[in-house]
Amino acid sequence: MVDSSVGGKTGINLAAGKNLVGNFHQPTAVFADTALLSTLPAREFAAGMAEVIKHGLIADRALFTELQTTAPLAWNHPLLPRIIRRCVEIKAGVVAGDERETSAHGGRALLNLGHTFGHAVEAIAGYGTYLHGEAVAIGLVMAARLSTELGRCTADEADAVAHTLAAHQLPTRLHTSLPLERILEAMRRDKKVRGGKLRFVLQEGIGAASTADDVPEAAAVRALLAGGAVA
Ligand code: GLY
Repeated sequence: MVDSSVGGKTGINLAAGKNLVGNFHQPTAVFADTALLSTLPAREFAAGMAEVIKHGLIADRALFTELQTTAPLAWNHPLLPRIIRRCVEIKAGVVAGDERETSAHGGRALLNLGHTFGHAVEAIAGYGTYLHGEAVAIGLVMAARLSTELGRCTADEADAVAHTLAAHQLPTRLHTSLPLERILEAMRRDKKVRGGKLRFVLQEGIGAASTADDVPEAAAVRALLAGGAVA
C-alpha cells in the first residue's frame, strides 16, 4: 500500500537477485483498503511498517515523530489510513519528479534509503530468511550509522531510527551470521550500482535524504559490521 502499489515499477527475479529485470508500467488506479491488512500475520504487517518509517525519514520529519510515539500500529488503528495516505502522497510526489529514476542526484533513488544494504542482506541470508521489510529495517539502521559517520545526521538521530523500528517490532541488526565479503559482493551487483560505483542513500538529519556515489567502502564496511555482519 505504501510502496510497490505506487510508481509503476514492475520486476522479475533472477537467480542473481530480486527484481533485477523490470519495466515501468503505471496502473490506471490503485485502491488501498486497510481492512485487507487484517489478513496479514503480525510479522508481515510490521515488515510493511519499515517502508512507512522510511517515508518519514526521507521526506517528513513530523510523520517520523508521530511514528516514534505511536507504536506499534495495528491494521485497525485510527491513524493508519492517514499515515498510509501520507506515504502515498510522498511516494507519488517523488515518482512524479523522476519516474524512471534517471536523476543524477536525489529523485526516485531516495526511495531506496536502506535498500542498498537491505537487498544484499535479503539475498545473502537466502530469500525468506528476512522479509523484505525486515531487511530494509536492518538496512535503514546501517544507512543511519553510515550517515552519522559521514556527518549527515547525529548519533542521536541514528539511535532514534533504530528505536523507532524496534518499537514497530522490526529487527535493527542481523540475527544470522552473514559474511561481510558476501554482502559487499551482493551490493556491487545491485541495480543501484552506477558506473561501477556503489550508490547509497544517506539521511540528512530526519526528514530529508540525498544520494551519494562517493562513499568510501571502508565506511560502508563499518556500518555492516556494526549491524552484525561477520568479517
Ligand atoms: N520501491 C522503490 C521505487 O518504487 O522506486
